[in-house]
Amino acid sequence: MAEFSGKVAIVTGGATLIGAAVAESLVSAGACVVVVDIDTDRGARVAEGLGARGLFIPTDVGDDAAIAAAVAATLARFGRIDVLVNAAACYIDQGAASPRADWAAAFNVNVFGGVALVQACRPHMAAQGGGAVVNFTSVSGRIAQAGRWVYPATKATIEQVTRSQALDLAGDGIRVNAVSLGWTWSAPISAMVKADRAKADRIAGPLHITGRVGDPKEVAEAVLFLASPRASLITGTTVAVDGGYLALGPEGRGLSLTELL
Ligand SMILES: NC(=O)c1ccc[n+]([C@@H]2O[C@H](COP(=O)([O-])OP(=O)(O)OC[C@H]3O[C@@H](n4cnc5c(N)ncnc54)[C@H](O)[C@@H]3O)[C@@H](O)[C@H]2O)c1
Repeated sequence: MAEFSGKVAIVTGGATLIGAAVAESLVSAGACVVVVDIDTDRGARVAEGLGARGLFIPTDVGDDAAIAAAVAATLARFGRIDVLVNAAACYIDQGAASPRADWAAAFNVNVFGGVALVQACRPHMAAQGGGAVVNFTSVSGRIAQAGRWVYPATKATIEQVTRSQALDLAGDGIRVNAVSLGWTWSAPISAMVKADRAKADRIAGPLHITGRVGDPKEVAEAVLFLASPRASLITGTTVAVDGGYLALGPEGRGLSLTELL
């Protein structure tokens, strides 16, 4: 029997490359998957590709009423919620010039959106005896990046909230973890390099031990593991799925001290 057979997952941000890869992998592993996203065209297309075990619910995760409606629609269609993947995010950021409105908007979606979904799913997971949450964070939440103040702060917050959620939801049998991504092939990176993946690898390569951008499928593998009973002892942590980005120091990949000395 497939690992997620009979399980139901909600994937926010499921309309885009990374979220869609997670949704597709979950369906391949037997789950029913509800894609939650504000992008109605892409969301509908992704869900169509998932077949009878897929459903798209247009939802703004910055809106509590929309979240309540999405959870209700998930229960009406599939009857339970076992897995929540919080991948939706916005990249609002004007660095030092970011006004209060930008900070509020970014935290509302990136942080409170995922938190509100956890709050809405919790009673249903608890009633079934447990569940698993996978939040999305980024290497940006651990380092200084020029011109970026807001997005990295939201991602750093998600790492801390993941710990708090893991502790307080453990009694309900719910594990909460996060994945921290490096440069991953995605809509924003594709737009940056005009869909030239080799160019993305050339730019991002030196920043990662693996020497390339990550693939959405590779992220999905980690998410599925954390969402599965195989990760039963893992909660409250952030797993780096970043090609070694955070393990690399200022010496980078190429500097050989023995050659320099
Ligand atoms: N692309 C990367 O290299 C990278 C690196 C580190 C972390 N991440 C994380 O991966 C996740 C996916 O990012 P991506 O780069 O694929 O970006 P993306 O913009 O392609 O995907 C984000 C998705 O979230 C949706 N979304 C935005 N606001 C929403 C809202 N209010 N309600 C519902 N859905 C909303 C968008 O429509 C989109 O489908 C994010 O959490 C991001 O922080 C990505």
